[in-house]
Amino acid sequence: MSAKTPPHGIHPDTVSTTASTDAGLSACFAVPADTIYLDTAAHGPRLRTVQAAAEHALAAGVAPWRIGTDEWLQSIEDVRAASARFFDGDREGVALVPSAGYGLSLAARNLPLEEGDTVLVLDRQFPSNLLPWQQRCAETGARLQFVRRSPGQGWTDAVLATLADTRAVRVLALPQAHWHDGHLLDLDRIAPQARDGGAALVLDLSQSLGALPASIARWQPEFVVSVGHKWLLGAQGLAYLWAAPQWRTRGMPLEQGWMARDGATVFASPAVPPDYRQGARRFDAGGIADPQRLAMSTAALKQLHDWGMARVASGLQARIAALRETLDGHGLAEWTASGYAASDHAAHFLGLRPPAGQLDRIADALADAGVVCTHRQGILRIAPHLHVSVDEMRYVGDLVAKVAGG
Ligand SMILES: Cc1ncc(COP(=O)(O)O)c(C=O)c1O
Repeated sequence: MSAKTPPHGIHPDTVSTTASTDAGLSACFAVPADTIYLDTAAHGPRLRTVQAAAEHALAAGVAPWRIGTDEWLQSIEDVRAASARFFDGDREGVALVPSAGYGLSLAARNLPLEEGDTVLVLDRQFPSNLLPWQQRCAETGARLQFVRRSPGQGWTDAVLATLADTRAVRVLALPQAHWHDGHLLDLDRIAPQARDGGAALVLDLSQSLGALPASIARWQPEFVVSVGHKWLLGAQGLAYLWAAPQWRTRGMPLEQGWMARDGATVFASPAVPPDYRQGARRFDAGGIADPQRLAMSTAALKQLHDWGMARVASGLQARIAALRETLDGHGLAEWTASGYAASDHAAHFLGLRPPAGQLDRIADALADAGVVCTHRQGILRIAPHLHVSVDEMRYVGDLVAKVAGG
């Protein structure tokens, strides 16, 4: 499945990224050849350019004095600019933070809430977009309410119905795709209703940015965050936070760090703290300027931009569609139906729900065949990237059907 690993310290620019066939795409990734890795929703597969960038940065780190300050600061701005292309190109709105939970804690700390207000989140939403709201509600007396689906109902309709029925919703904290099974939320329908009711929209796009298009202009959120190491294929510990314009002048960072302040005066023991740097830079977190993580994220974002959003999205869609068709062909359509409309299924990952008695057997057979995926709460989460071929997705479907039948 994969070609030879590049030697340590190779410069990332020398690794070819122009492949267009399935085999060529697969060779862009350093996934072990005996593995069909289907867990991008946990951790993106490692691009060879990203591996090479990490090794290059590590090698350069033996002589940190040779890395110029300007070059280092520029590498932060390069990541900001490259990630901003996923946020309508708004580079002034992007801050670099270590995790989704950090960015969502920052949103929770800044958005006004008081007793009697309500914060809406989804049932079983990822904890990074739940815990900050629970904490803030406990501090302010605001109420946290879970949106729950009735049988057959999609998340979008459940959110719209709860919004319509609930008093004083001030914050709607949502993903675009539920992390369990890729159940989609139609933010084009939800965002206007949230706005009309005066609710601030806060988005955790960790399970969609890089795989599905996002639109700041249409959704008009207050804060958006995504980790960089899943569908954005970059380094763990470097996430992207987008903040709406009003927060760039009055938002309060979670920490007081020198890198978020005016560099001309911050080292001169000023009597009062100097101004924050421009735009969302006031929210840049300490420690994010690690050259290795910056280099990895730069390489990942470059590759995604070289491929283009449309091509990545359609490539992922083709892989999930091949798996679905194969399972449908074996009479297992029910296993991917998920109890909600097909139009609500994400195109880039899916939750497979075998009958309870079969789940462990299927999970074991997949593991034995070198297929890596997450198995949680009765669902096998299948999340490929472009390193997996359409044929391999069909092979996985056939294997599942064989175990189910036998
Ligand atoms: C929806 C979602 N949000 C956030 C995260 C990660 O959050 P954090 O960066 O806070 O660890 C994950 C998975 O790890 C996730 O699935």
